Amino acid sequence: MANLTETQASQLLEAAQTAASRAYAPFSKFQVGAAILTQSGQIFTGCNVENSSYGLTNCAERTAIFSAVAAGALSAESELLAVAVVNRDGAICSPCGACRQVIFEFGPEAVVIYRAHSGEMARTQAKDLLPEGFRLR
Ligand code: THU
Repeated sequence: MANLTETQASQLLEAAQTAASRAYAPFSKFQVGAAILTQSGQIFTGCNVENSSYGLTNCAERTAIFSAVAAGALSAESELLAVAVVNRDGAICSPCGACRQVIFEFGPEAVVIYRAHSGEMARTQAKDLLPEGFRLR
């Protein structure tokens, strides 16, 4: 697993918590924030953005990753190092299946931090959250 210092992990969790406070989740009321660390050492954040047409909802993790790509900080040449995801109220929240696939695309070895079903904070590699993950490169 990529080495993530405790300071980096805390920074990501704090940034994710701030992002969760910006969530647009009037339908589920489940407010999620994510923060990612890129190879260049930059942190990008995202929140979930829901829509009256429910299927258009974008999860926090994907908002963060897509923002980093749009900013030129994440590409085929630069690996995603880490992702932290939190629910605003501290509820159990692991990345959904779609987000696991998107995380895997940019960093199979990325460290993913989330509150697991056990209630504890977990650190797992993306490739362990998505065994036999699909990637064309
Ligand atoms: N959600 C995320 O933002 N990330 C996840 O990994 C799990 C689910 C959001 C989507 C939706 O807005 C709300 O949580 C309830 O599913």
